[in-house]
Amino acid sequence: MKIAMIGAGYVGLTTGACLSRFGNSVCCVDINQARVDSLRAGNIPIYEPGLSDLIKANVDAGRLTFSSSAETAVADADLVFLAVGTPPLPDGDTDLQFILGAVDAVAPHMRSDAVLVVKSTVPTGAAQLVRKRAVAARGGRAVSVASNPEFLREGSALEDFMAPDRVVIGADDGVAEDRLRRLYAPLADLTTLLVTSTANAELIKYAANAFLALKIGFINDIADLCEATGGDCAAVSKGIGLDSRIGEAFLRPGPGFGGSCFPKDTRSLAATGRRYGAPQPLVEALVERNLERQVAIGRRLSAVLGAGSRVTVLGAAFKAGTDDLRESPALAIVDALLEDGHTVHIHDPKAREVGERLVTGAKWSSSPYEAAAGADAVVVATEWPEFAALDFERLARMMSGRLIFDLRNIVDRNAALAEGFTLHSVGQRPQGPVRRPRSGGRAAMADLAASPL
Ligand code: UDX
Repeated sequence: MKIAMIGAGYVGLTTGACLSRFGNSVCCVDINQARVDSLRAGNIPIYEPGLSDLIKANVDAGRLTFSSSAETAVADADLVFLAVGTPPLPDGDTDLQFILGAVDAVAPHMRSDAVLVVKSTVPTGAAQLVRKRAVAARGGRAVSVASNPEFLREGSALEDFMAPDRVVIGADDGVAEDRLRRLYAPLADLTTLLVTSTANAELIKYAANAFLALKIGFINDIADLCEATGGDCAAVSKGIGLDSRIGEAFLRPGPGFGGSCFPKDTRSLAATGRRYGAPQPLVEALVERNLERQVAIGRRLSAVLGAGSRVTVLGAAFKAGTDDLRESPALAIVDALLEDGHTVHIHDPKAREVGERLVTGAKWSSSPYEAAAGADAVVVATEWPEFAALDFERLARMMSGRLIFDLRNIVDRNAALAEGFTLHSVGQRPQGPVRRPRSGGRAAMADLAASPL
């Protein structure tokens, strides 16, 4: 089939590349000419494992092209996907101006039997709005609209696309349903193609993300309780996760969730609830708690460190496997540390380029050890695999202090403790020697057991 993908951002590029791999002819369209030129020259503007190779293979096979002309790209398309940005409004609701602008640009030029598919994450009711707008832009001619939310995780987006838990097809008419069933036929033997209304598809996307975020928010609160009571949250997560009604996934406590989806989508779901008079108090509370947690963790580190410490933050991306810094808890923690007067050195294997532009006041280093030279404490803020294999003997030689804050519970704790480090993990009391406060106010650590992370 011929596909026009409007928006060559993260979702548009990954979806476009994967659909071209199924043998479709895909044209990714972006209004940003520089981005289109760069894609045509083979430069992929985001880091996603495997994406660059997949794009190259499909461009070479003649199935994937890039253009800045929506009009040309949609002219002979069977399916026109909308994968443009849906930024938040100040009240948390979703700004649909780019979606509606894209509809105005493509609708007049679409074939009469083409299907317009909303891929961007949008609040419920948006597909109906898109349909009305498209019909108006086509001078009253009808148009098939579908909703096909994505469930891709950054860092594993290609596997998620090729082996999904389900594909959700929101269609209110037979043409849209048939076209999308055909599109996803290569996955039909692997997974469930769930066909439902556009309104349900939109609700499924928000409800799924909010539910996963609630699991994280819940286990983070339980982690605080474990620290206060002397429990171990890893054992608690395991113990509750083995109940198949709960499940083990998304029960890793940490510094709070971040990224481009969970924070935005939970705020948007809460705003939709308010707008329709169907409040979502659990999600409202979750949004607040998650923001509070990021700042609170920064403050708790400060309380252990004492004034004017030198702190190394390992990891800036909101999670491993991506260079995405959007709503990253690591950055909220860096801000809190800087505000409290500490000196901060950051290392992230992928996010340095973006990070240096975004974070002022901290120094960036190209290796964990360079970043740790002279440091009083190391904070592991992102679960990059290399931080699970830190050489503590080397760190001990380079650092002036012996404190590790493992906000992802990944470091080799025996190796750290053997080198004389005090280890603060999430959901567990600190382990290791309790050291006397140093003179001069630096790295003051009074009673560590009394101030769990
Ligand atoms: C998420 C959804 O998983 C995906 O289906 C949707 O399409 C987009 O949003 P993503 O934001 O890429 O994907 O990352 P994900 O792996 O879900 O993690 C989100 C956040 O939760 C990260 O900050 C991560 O560190 C945090 N997290 C996740 C935890 O703190 N604990 C967990 O157990 C799992």
